[in-house]
Formats: sequence, C-alpha cells, structure tokens
Amino acid sequence: MNRKEFFEMLGVSIPIAFVTCNMEACKHDSVALPASDLIDLTIDLNDTQYSKLKNQGGFVFVPDKVDIIIAHTIKDEYVAVSARCTHQGSLVAYYPSDIFFCSRHGAKFSTNGAVTQGPAVNPLTQYKTHLSGTKLRVFS
Ligand code: FES
Repeated sequence: MNRKEFFEMLGVSIPIAFVTCNMEACKHDSVALPASDLIDLTIDLNDTQYSKLKNQGGFVFVPDKVDIIIAHTIKDEYVAVSARCTHQGSLVAYYPSDIFFCSRHGAKFSTNGAVTQGPAVNPLTQYKTHLSGTKLRVFS
C-alpha cells in the first residue's frame, strides 16, 4: 500500500487505525518537516472520501504538498492543520474534545495547531478554510 492509498483508507475508516504507524517517517527519531509550501486545494464534501466532514466531529486526511488533516469541529467550524506531529512525525487525529491528539507520545494541539501538551514543542501549521456550498477550500 502506498502513502496515498493509506490516507485514502484513513479518510473512510474509523479514526483509530492511524495510532500506530509503520510508515517510513514514523521510524525516525526526528522528522524534517517540510518548508511552508503554499497550500491551495478545494475538496467537495459530497465526494464520498470527504463525507465525514459533513458531520461535526468528523475529520479526514488529505495528502498534498504536506499531509493535511481537516476537521469539522464541535463548534461547527472547519479547521485544517498539518497532520504530522511536530515531535516525531506521527499522524495526529481530531477528537471531539476539540483537540488534535498524537497518540504516539501524547502531544495535544489546539484547533489552531498550538501545542497544549508536550512532548511536542512546535505548533502544527494552520491553514485557512473557506466553505462555499459543498466546496471547502484549504489554503495558506
Ligand atoms: S510523535 Fe507525536 S507526541 Fe511523539
């Protein structure tokens, strides 16, 4: 299974499978995070791979220049941040307690990507979102 297939699988499955990661980036003690490339993508919430975003508490992963996690928060907002934990690069997940959580070592991030609990010290990159009908734009 390649990386794209992996993320597609996560986008349509229960948000538990990403906890243990055997992808190459997870095997390293430190991960060189990508530079802040400009992001500008639009997804359609009617597309089945993104349909989880129709419900508050739902989230999906979108591989782009960087791996992105998009969540529909319990406050009925769409938020998007880089999906790789800044500690050692594992995938974070959105929890309805309105946090992004990395289960590898327990780091927590607010919905704007700020660290709220270590061991991570650097924030996730936050992206802007704009919903127009069923089209959700995520951009830098
Ligand atoms: S990799 Fe996320 S807390 Fe360590």
